[in-house]
Amino acid sequence: MSKKIYLYPGWIRIWHILNTLMFIILIVTGISMQYTGRKDHLLMVGFVRAVRWHNIAAIILIINYIIFVAGNIITKNGKYYRLKKQNFWSDLWIQMRYYTSGMFKKEKPPFPVTEVRKFNPLQKFIYVLAMYVALPLLIISGIGLLLPDITINKLFGVSGLVLTDFLHIAMAFLLSVFFIVHIYTCTLGSKPLSLFGEIISGYHEAEEEE
Ligand code: HEM
Repeated sequence: MSKKIYLYPGWIRIWHILNTLMFIILIVTGISMQYTGRKDHLLMVGFVRAVRWHNIAAIILIINYIIFVAGNIITKNGKYYRLKKQNFWSDLWIQMRYYTSGMFKKEKPPFPVTEVRKFNPLQKFIYVLAMYVALPLLIISGIGLLLPDITINKLFGVSGLVLTDFLHIAMAFLLSVFFIVHIYTCTLGSKPLSLFGEIISGYHEAEEEE
């Protein structure tokens, strides 16, 4: 027996689709910018076009990010992102052990999805790092590059613009790694495609015993 739990409200699903689309545009145009002067290619965009689309996608992503933060403050979705000190490291370890061993032995997930626990401890920690540390740093450094006049001139003798650029590229790299790992972990639901269906329909199918 299974029951359906409504876990992904409409606004999160719309935020997620828009965020994903902007993310893909930002990755393609961001990489394209490194190949200055090249003409458009199947996977590359010419420099001028890449800069324009990168800026447009970034602005849409920032507005969408503000909606994400505000939505998590206003609605109960924010509670799923609250980290708890109690058993923090041991819970991470239990989940890590499941992903690296238990899962392959067909053990039951140690932290099944319920109405009060949408994310397992490792997933929650990674989402918090991605959404509340890496993405804000990516956005702030991106704004610094877009408006170089407001960027610090020098820090410890190094150009502020170079440091801002370094931070931007480092965060973009980390979030791109997150993106790939995220898609992989989203195949680890009860069936390989079940979690993808959930972020579209909003409903999680839970075992009754949970
Ligand atoms: C093709 C691209 C993507 C796919 C297929 C995808 C898939 C999914 C799926 C299936 C879920 C629901 C399962 C879960 O709760 O973890 C989910 C949730 C989530 N995804 Fe993605 N995702 C994509 C891109 C992204 C990107 C680019 C980000 C952020 C940089 C992101 C951040 C999140 C977050 C924060 C949640 C939880 C939302 C909430 O319920 O509060 N995703 N994603």
